[in-house]
Amino acid sequence: MGLLLLFRVLLVAAAAAARAPAGHAWGKEGHYMVCKIAECMWQSFLTEEASTAVKDLLPGWAAGDLAETCSWADSQRFRYPWSSPLHFSDNPGDCKFSYARDCHNNKGEKDMCVVGAINNYTAALKDSSSPFDPTESLMFLAHFVGDVHQPLHCGNADDLGGNTIKLHWYGRQSNLHKVWDVNVIETALKEFYNDDQNTMIEAINLNITEEWSNEEKQWETCRSRTKTCADKYAMESAQLACNAYEGVEQDTTLEDDYFFAALPVVQKRIAQGGVRLAAILNTIFSGNRMLQSS
Ligand SMILES: *[C@@H]1O[C@H](CO)[C@@H](O)[C@H](O)[C@H]1NC(C)=O
Ligand SMILES: *[C@@H]1O[C@H](CO)[C@@H](O)[C@H](O)[C@H]1NC(C)=O
Ligand SMILES: [Zn+2]
Repeated sequence: MGLLLLFRVLLVAAAAAARAPAGHAWGKEGHYMVCKIAECMWQSFLTEEASTAVKDLLPGWAAGDLAETCSWADSQRFRYPWSSPLHFSDNPGDCKFSYARDCHNNKGEKDMCVVGAINNYTAALKDSSSPFDPTESLMFLAHFVGDVHQPLHCGNADDLGGNTIKLHWYGRQSNLHKVWDVNVIETALKEFYNDDQNTMIEAINLNITEEWSNEEKQWETCRSRTKTCADKYAMESAQLACNAYEGVEQDTTLEDDYFFAALPVVQKRIAQGGVRLAAILNTIFSGNRMLQSS
């Protein structure tokens, strides 16, 4: 193989490797918060049987808390290599999500993206004759509903959803994807929430019941009878990702200006993820159509 070609192959391999360690999730905190908010929402309207059904499916190590399982999917990427592309769905840079165009893995297999996965595991949990392990389906679903709300999980494919945009977050090395996965949340925890996730969750929950109480109903609305509305959530993320790229260049330093613009977006996406996860679990386990058909 020619030297130039070899160089290109190495470059692509390096880019793929760069995606692997950082790039597949809100960090642990983001996923935990999404799921805690879902539990909180869902305690107020989930039926007894549905609540029992979810608890019965949780693995023993979760000690009855869904949130404890919400980063499990990230730890399975080596055991289940096919699951790696299910954490995101990038686009060619047009700030849109198109299922037919974007929802596939790098071998071109259809449905192998975060939206396909949410539909897949929702359908599996609804169908008692599904061959898939329902505990795994629940843990995958809870994780991927979080992921689809992280804007850079629906970013530009050319830079692997911001993973190849290396930059500094205040004084530390990072990349744009990681800024949205973990840095904004970590900085907020440190600066505003006493390094306590529960304080941050409470603040977001308070907003859901006050500031956002009108919008909140629309977040849940989903007219699709056959699927989830995850394609809509991916479209929102793709649009938010567009703003996230604005003014960000290789080797730039992001500080207060960027942080204060990004934080309200991150907090709202966590809130929406939680509310929608609760609504999806509700329709799966309680046959409660109210939330989906409103
Ligand atoms: C659906 O779930 C099964 C079981 O985990 C998995 O093998 C398959 O790849 C999934 N497909 C999608 C589109 O998520
Ligand atoms: C609460 O809502 C306001 C207005 O939308 C927003 O600026 C703020 O960041 C939110 N706080 C939290 C903790 O979600
Ligand atoms: Zn993920």
